[in-house]
Amino acid sequence: MSRPLLDLAARFGTPLYVYDLATVRARARALLAAVTWRPFQPLFAIKANPVPAVAQAIVAEGFGVDAVSPGEVALALRLGVDSAKVLYTENNMTDAEQTAALAQNVLVNCGSLDRLQRLAQAGATRAAVRFNPDIGAGAHEKICTAGPLTKFGVHYSLVDQVRAVERGSALKVVGCHMHIGSGFLDADAFVRACGVLLSVARQLPNLEFIDFGGGLGIPYKPDDGPIDLARVGAEVSRLMAEFCAAYGRPLELRLEPGRFLVAESGTLLTTVTSVKTNPGPDGRTFAGCDSGFNHLVRPTMYGAYHRIANLSRPDAAPQKVDVVGNICESGDIFARDRMLPAPQPGDVLAIGDAGAYGSAMASTYNTRPLPAEVVLDGDLVRLARRRQTVDELLSAWEW
Ligand SMILES: Cc1ncc(COP(=O)(O)O)c(C=O)c1O
Repeated sequence: MSRPLLDLAARFGTPLYVYDLATVRARARALLAAVTWRPFQPLFAIKANPVPAVAQAIVAEGFGVDAVSPGEVALALRLGVDSAKVLYTENNMTDAEQTAALAQNVLVNCGSLDRLQRLAQAGATRAAVRFNPDIGAGAHEKICTAGPLTKFGVHYSLVDQVRAVERGSALKVVGCHMHIGSGFLDADAFVRACGVLLSVARQLPNLEFIDFGGGLGIPYKPDDGPIDLARVGAEVSRLMAEFCAAYGRPLELRLEPGRFLVAESGTLLTTVTSVKTNPGPDGRTFAGCDSGFNHLVRPTMYGAYHRIANLSRPDAAPQKVDVVGNICESGDIFARDRMLPAPQPGDVLAIGDAGAYGSAMASTYNTRPLPAEVVLDGDLVRLARRRQTVDELLSAWEW
């Protein structure tokens, strides 16, 4: 892969995001095969990677879309996803956003009781509720989205109040949802939280689906093993079978992974612009690049580990370096103390597993444009997004 990546860097320039659709399709199919319960409707948490060609490849495998904003709803509908397969998991939505979602015929997944009430008052007849099962998981505190510290969802013990809204209105709660966090490799907490969610679901008589959310992790670090997908699939299928037998009718199972589907498909290519070593016995060597946390914020924000390869000089003697970016912040670090084939200015580095929450979280901080993005589909190379220009950036301002 390193030769084609170097060719892409030469052709499109760096920084450049590259996504391989073969990997995306393989992950989507692996998930479909692991879950035996039917009906099963997987959704793609499109926030992880909204590149249309990437999302399209997943939708073509039968996935719907988990959206969290009006923009993501618009993106899903523009991709041709049937509105019945779009779930809008709201998080402090405005009343105007609620009105728009109802007009688009998209199911709103309420994260608070007051939103559920306002939906009922607006005449909505169907909604889902995101519950907080009080069990969180995730690779970092900032991506743990359940438990006592989180803003998300209706606490599971408040299901009576959800029922009260149902009883007092024409609104039926048709979906029972959780999403407990992102990037877990050990599914124990997830399986326990599924049990809590099902204890809530038992008390909701009008359900059409149970949605256990996303969060499946990928092995970013060399010592990480992959998540036991077969176990996750078997556990959720078993839980659904037991639950539905008691509930009296089969419900649809939903899962909504993001990272698992796209992370490993993506690479951020960046060029080394400067290498320097501080004096003294503890002097660090810095390999500075033409990208930064404006393009991949995960290491800075979550202390996340990403594999890095020196594509230009794979056989050079290894050297311990800090791989840093071109943003004016000390936290602009892709990796500390990383052993890499000694980088030189002009070398192209490949930052791996960057397909989820990479470009999706990019910003224009330091008035630096967004990078270009390309998609590989077999032998086909498609430009997914042109490199933004400084002129485009500046033209957004009133002068
Ligand atoms: C509601 C919801 N569902 C699914 C996901 C996907 O999470 P992941 O990418 O870890 O699978 C997220 C991510 O934050 C989310 O907020």
